[in-house]
Amino acid sequence: MLQMLAFISRPVTRRRLVLGVAGVVAASIAPAAAAETIALSVDASKAGAKIDRNVFGQFAEHLGHGVYEGVWVGPDSPIPNTRGIRDDVVGALKALKVPNVRWPGGCFADEYHWRKGVGPQRAVSLNPNWGGVTEPNSFGTHEFMDFLDQIGAEAYVSVNVGSGTPQEAAEWLEYLTAAQPTTLAKERAANGHPAPYRIAYLGIGNESWDCGGNMTPEYYLSQLKAYSRFVRNFNPAQQQDPNRMLKIAVGPGGDGPRWTEWTDTVMKAWQGRSWSWDFDGLSMHNYTVVKWPPSYKSTGFGEAEYAQILKSTLEMDRLVATHSAIMDKYDPQKKIALVVDEWGAWYAPLPGSNPGFLVQQNSLRDAILAALNLNVFARHADRVRMANIAQMVNVLQAMILTDREKMVLTPTYHVFKMYVPFQDATFVPVSLDAGTYTHGDVTLPRLDAIAARDAAGKLWLALTNLDPNRSVAVEASLAGLTPRAAAGETLTAPRVDSVNSFDAPSVVAPKAIAAKIQGATLALTIEPKSVTVVSVEQ
Ligand code: AHR
Repeated sequence: MLQMLAFISRPVTRRRLVLGVAGVVAASIAPAAAAETIALSVDASKAGAKIDRNVFGQFAEHLGHGVYEGVWVGPDSPIPNTRGIRDDVVGALKALKVPNVRWPGGCFADEYHWRKGVGPQRAVSLNPNWGGVTEPNSFGTHEFMDFLDQIGAEAYVSVNVGSGTPQEAAEWLEYLTAAQPTTLAKERAANGHPAPYRIAYLGIGNESWDCGGNMTPEYYLSQLKAYSRFVRNFNPAQQQDPNRMLKIAVGPGGDGPRWTEWTDTVMKAWQGRSWSWDFDGLSMHNYTVVKWPPSYKSTGFGEAEYAQILKSTLEMDRLVATHSAIMDKYDPQKKIALVVDEWGAWYAPLPGSNPGFLVQQNSLRDAILAALNLNVFARHADRVRMANIAQMVNVLQAMILTDREKMVLTPTYHVFKMYVPFQDATFVPVSLDAGTYTHGDVTLPRLDAIAARDAAGKLWLALTNLDPNRSVAVEASLAGLTPRAAAGETLTAPRVDSVNSFDAPSVVAPKAIAAKIQGATLALTIEPKSVTVVSVEQ
């Protein structure tokens, strides 16, 4: 997936992000027409699978300003920080209840040597994948674990299979998790953390079919078996379910026979596994890009690009279904999770930015794209039990953009926040026929909806109106509960390419929406090009 990127090292022009929007040519979207009424039905008594909170996971790679500047500014920075980690970013992420963070990559992970990132003297190395810049290693193991502590997330550590060894990865895990006084555990204590760390998820390689070493599935399997066997978690609190560290194998990276063959080969081997190796999740990467290299602009686009990108993102459903069906052949009990640990929009780099830093803006289109993908994951909740959007701060479809001391929350951030109630809620099926939205030769469903019940029994509905021109009046019949009151918020903006910038941070921000309960019916009007989340009390 990365073959198309020729990374040139040159200084990043971060200012473009601040100014980018003002100069954009207006995308002409027709004014909203009168709403027509759509019937939707929800039966709250029909419980589906749990929507695992881990599908709202994040990904932080050592790439551009994803970690350095985005998360880590160092303890001496004038930017308010706690032990070097930005307070504003931590505060924003806490509100998302981030379940897990995947780190240190990405492609970076297969060239990462953990020893360079521990102790008082940090080796300065290079980051050849991403702009060829120097890697100070000042954000290493302890800083990552401190960051997780500050935001309240679990660790998803990707170990180096491409250029590392099982021994190196095994020693990292011993350093992280051993409680007994081994030399490595004592070194961890000397470096400030006597107690063993909790490592919830272990990624065994990243894109081993490409940037992670261009392996065949058979070759990867031999690596996987060795890493699965030898890279142990020694934390006494993690020796049994449900606290056991879950191991995630490299899975497919796109559409087509190469990827179905990969999934088939790895899952078939898993079915015939022996006592000495195992894994718990199969990773899948799928970016919304339309075609490589990424050429769609992240700002200053019109309805044609809006419709095309949404069409492309909806392919996620078919990919998940295809790979789930292969997994079902070998794992009908769905023991292995499909882990979509890289997803999101990948656009052309912002003009003037370092192309190796993957800097892009984030618009209302991305908010809608995020909601559509989260809905796909919810519908496949029995198999998709973890996902990680790429990436958390300043890289690709980010939650947060920073520029020195400034920070702005993106439209995608707001969707993740609005969807917090869906974390660990029980999926409830929704049926609707809202017809279609057509632009040029692209035809899409007009409305997308999911529902779920939280632990307190409250019903939550998420409704996305893909049509940028027509609002939808929804009458939702609610069976299986006695609705009493409803409240919600909606995220929209004047244009499909509206963005939040450092100068205008609230162009795309949620606002309250009126929702009425009439008997067993919920009535509300959904604005064009919007994401709405409503709760129903009973
Ligand atoms: O997220 C950027 C890159 O995309 C990751 O490093 C790699 O795994 C993928 O190709």
